[in-house]
Amino acid sequence: MIQVYPDPEELSRAAAAFFVDSARRAARAQGRFSVALSGGSTPRRCYELLAAVPLSEQVPWENVHVFWGDERCVPATDSRSNLLMARQGLLNHVPVPGSAIHPMACAGDPEAAAVAYERILRDHFGAAPPRFDLVLLGLGTDGHTASLFPGGDALDETKRWVVPAQLPGQDFRRLTLTLPLLNQAHQVLFLVAGADKAEILARIFGPSTAAKPLPARCIAPAGGAVLWLVDQAAFDGLKDREQR
Ligand code: 6PG
Repeated sequence: MIQVYPDPEELSRAAAAFFVDSARRAARAQGRFSVALSGGSTPRRCYELLAAVPLSEQVPWENVHVFWGDERCVPATDSRSNLLMARQGLLNHVPVPGSAIHPMACAGDPEAAAVAYERILRDHFGAAPPRFDLVLLGLGTDGHTASLFPGGDALDETKRWVVPAQLPGQDFRRLTLTLPLLNQAHQVLFLVAGADKAEILARIFGPSTAAKPLPARCIAPAGGAVLWLVDQAAFDGLKDREQR
């Protein structure tokens, strides 16, 4: 399912409204809302809208449990940190209990951090299936999502929920949730904006000719739904392809 918005601001407003609705539904139904935030730059405006009136007054923050889909293994004060972006955009401004915010701390040994984060997730979900109520994801121009990169080992993981990852050429490691966990989500929401994403979006929604599907195309929760919120600039590539 794909919804197109005129510009990044309208896309962010739609994403924030979707977040509010998901949080309220989950809090009513089960007393808590488990969400995995996306990194990158696209979600920042959505986070800022959630942190401001009126939306900030509509979310049952006391029931919200915050996780991350991935993280860069850099200090939490580093501008590349997904935790820092979420703190600045959202978490420093809303009353989510500190005990319900679960950063992917991995500035040390990524392998040990992956094991530790999986333990945090298992403690949170307990004996129940590990099903996030909402997973926010972005899309890289190479088709990656979270830190599941084309050709990366993390994409092939079939058992672990959290593994280290690395984008070749980057001088820092990452942690990422894996497909076995992501594909148990109740709801995945992709946020994609900008003309630079038009080509990859067309490849994601076009006929799959690649030997291995692009990572973002592997996000297909068996018992959940995927919704793509895209802006017109990103969608134009898809529209052009359909008209060929
Ligand atoms: C990360 C993100 C990554 C991001 C995409 C899109 O930590 O890098 O999780 O998957 O969502 O690269 O990034 P932009 O939103 O900045 O285009």
